[in-house]
Amino acid sequence: MSRSSRQSQIRGLIKLSKYWNKLINDIEPYVAGEQPKPGQKVIKLNTNENPYPPTPKVKKALDNFDLSDLRLYPDTNSTIVKQAAAKFDGVSEKNIFCGNGSDEVLAIAFQTFFEKKAFTGLPVLMPDYSYSFYPVFSEFYDIRRKTIALKDDFRLDPDDYIGVPNCGIVFANPNAPTSRAVAVSDVEKIAKANPDSVVIVDEAYVAFSEEYESAVSLIGEYKNICVIRTLSKAFSLAGIRLGYAVGNEELIEGLMRARDSFNSYPVDRLAQTVAEAALLDVGYYNETRSKIISTRKWFAKELLDIGFKMPPSSANFVFAKPPMDCGTLYQNLRSKGILVRYFNKPVLKDYLRITIGTDEEMRILLDAIKEEVQNAENS
Ligand SMILES: Cc1ncc(COP(=O)(O)O)c(C=O)c1O
Repeated sequence: MSRSSRQSQIRGLIKLSKYWNKLINDIEPYVAGEQPKPGQKVIKLNTNENPYPPTPKVKKALDNFDLSDLRLYPDTNSTIVKQAAAKFDGVSEKNIFCGNGSDEVLAIAFQTFFEKKAFTGLPVLMPDYSYSFYPVFSEFYDIRRKTIALKDDFRLDPDDYIGVPNCGIVFANPNAPTSRAVAVSDVEKIAKANPDSVVIVDEAYVAFSEEYESAVSLIGEYKNICVIRTLSKAFSLAGIRLGYAVGNEELIEGLMRARDSFNSYPVDRLAQTVAEAALLDVGYYNETRSKIISTRKWFAKELLDIGFKMPPSSANFVFAKPPMDCGTLYQNLRSKGILVRYFNKPVLKDYLRITIGTDEEMRILLDAIKEEVQNAENS
């Protein structure tokens, strides 16, 4: 079956069209986690959203928002967001680039820093199990790629990125869906060994790590590190779509050139207002991420106690291998109204990626899992 047919089976839509170009006919687009239908009540633990609402400062900012301003285009520079992000990350606003979610920032970074097949034989390097948008971007932008195997325990070994010819490197830290992170010194090792390539470090989940820190501290010394962050997870703002890149001015200017070649206003006025308020409330950010970390620790231990296996998580999700058929557990949880993420692909198909929700949600999920494991043992 062709890749486009597989994709269309998932969506139940048109498979091929003579009106589409070859790229669109051939590509296998990214498949987002299942979204409940409007009004459908589910426990949603499949897209790593934050179970807590955004800071109350967001409501205050929206209450003060002058709706008549919506007739005007937004600030193309996203100045208030850049200033707030710069303060949050301890860098200059010249080091920040804002976009419509980190997916968009990643897409622009691929177009800016990595070279098309037509111009180079060199691939972009990425881990074999990582954010599934990376291979899609490389297909979409016609960039050759080489996947580098993670170790058996899903660890990324920086040495595997040394001495491998490439036109760029991308990885998530902590990684998704595996949840493991590497130390900043490992990121540094990779950047140092590849001075002519841009190393994109996707830090969507770094806020949930206790041991590992952001690579933002390296951008002064390493001009080739581009850190990408999002407000979707730790700031509870998946609904507004705000992501940003942090890097040397030379990298930021490149991103601006690419962005201004297709959309000069990616971040709307409402998103800018909301994002600024959230980034400035560091106290609330710390409070929610600590709650999630402590729920994760409790939940992971409970799963280990009933025979699950999993790598240590530094994210707001766990990547857990159940002591029963994983596809069956996924389906049975789904029919009980609990959505978790299942990737029906080699190796990954033995694991569930479970977002950390509130304590109550995780208790309900745990009870349902225990019942399923018990049933599987008895059958
Ligand atoms: C590793 C990783 N990077 C980026 C994103 C995209 O986040 P955003 O909502 O900012 O587009 C996700 C979303 O789940 C992710 O898992």
